[in-house]
Amino acid sequence: MIDLHTHLLPGIDDGAKSLEEAVQIIRQGRKIGITAICTTPHLSSSFTKDRAEKIMENFLMLQERIYEEKIDIQLYLGSEIDLRMNFDSIKRLPFFFINQTQKYLFVELPLGEFPSFTERILFSLLIEGLSPILAHPERSLSKEGDFERIEKLKDSGILIQLNAGSFLGDFGKKIQKQAQRLLEKDLVDFVSSDAHDLNRRPITVMAEAFKMVKKDSGEEKGVKLFRKNPEKILRADNIETQVEIKYF
Ligand SMILES: [Fe+2]
Repeated sequence: MIDLHTHLLPGIDDGAKSLEEAVQIIRQGRKIGITAICTTPHLSSSFTKDRAEKIMENFLMLQERIYEEKIDIQLYLGSEIDLRMNFDSIKRLPFFFINQTQKYLFVELPLGEFPSFTERILFSLLIEGLSPILAHPERSLSKEGDFERIEKLKDSGILIQLNAGSFLGDFGKKIQKQAQRLLEKDLVDFVSSDAHDLNRRPITVMAEAFKMVKKDSGEEKGVKLFRKNPEKILRADNIETQVEIKYF
């Protein structure tokens, strides 16, 4: 499996609290069959230049530890950007995109909300030739019309990432059902752990969710959502989407 969405850099966000914890999370991931991890610190309006430097510093330190401890896993850097952020001011950051692809980036909705300006922001990124990935929208849907909005976003070329824990009911029954429904409607591009720590939001949810998705939607679909699509993203390859070209 390949896990593109995690919070492993100590002192940066609400993820791992120490380098030790980050290393242990990565070990846990390797044990369940994860071969590559991208860590994606939250970027929100409280972001500063100092924090940017600290992200790079901590990432390089963690990468070195993985190498020293001979953990057989590839570690990449990206970010998870708050939808309300000024994207122009942070575009030059070396970790704005996933693995410096100059193409793929995670955008996060405010917790539990699906603001009306979401489309405007995501479409403006698309127009620039970028491929925004909406992070865990299943956690923000509240009404029937929200599913249609996701469908339209997907049809336009926005990618959709769901959290592995959502399939397991870790965020409640409602979010579990919403995740299953998005999967049934074929609106999901890939699944990640969104791991924050060792126990409360662990990386191990990937193994259970992988099993569950394979059981419900077949082996091929599981492999696509947990390995093939994330791999393409890391390489900046195009991933198969449902984009319909419409002529007006
Ligand atoms: Fe996250």
